Amino acid sequence: MKCAVAIPKSEFINKAAVTFEGDVGGRLVQGVVAFAGGRYFAYQNLCKHVPINLDCGDGNVLNEEGTRFQCHMHGAIYEFETGECTAGPCVGAQLNTFTVIDDGSRIVVELPENPELV
Ligand code: FES
Repeated sequence: MKCAVAIPKSEFINKAAVTFEGDVGGRLVQGVVAFAGGRYFAYQNLCKHVPINLDCGDGNVLNEEGTRFQCHMHGAIYEFETGECTAGPCVGAQLNTFTVIDDGSRIVVELPENPELV
């Protein structure tokens, strides 16, 4: 059975990204959803340089302009639409992607069934 997290679209009012937590087989998985160009994109909240949260615990996953994800440990920049790192110490790496379903009033993020993948 797939694990999923539902986020009301109202949480994206005046926000480019929303963080969330989910449970996969008893393991906590942290993620982030970006709203860009009228679409939603979901990723694991885990830097590809060193496996820590992009926000380093303060909840801010964005760059100063609010236009991209930024890891606040060493500054890696990730694109909203692809999750690809385009600047910083892990250029070319890609955040783990989660499937997003838009059910009208909510964004439903499907989490991987295999905890080894998260
Ligand atoms: S841990 Fe994210 S850029 Fe180094």
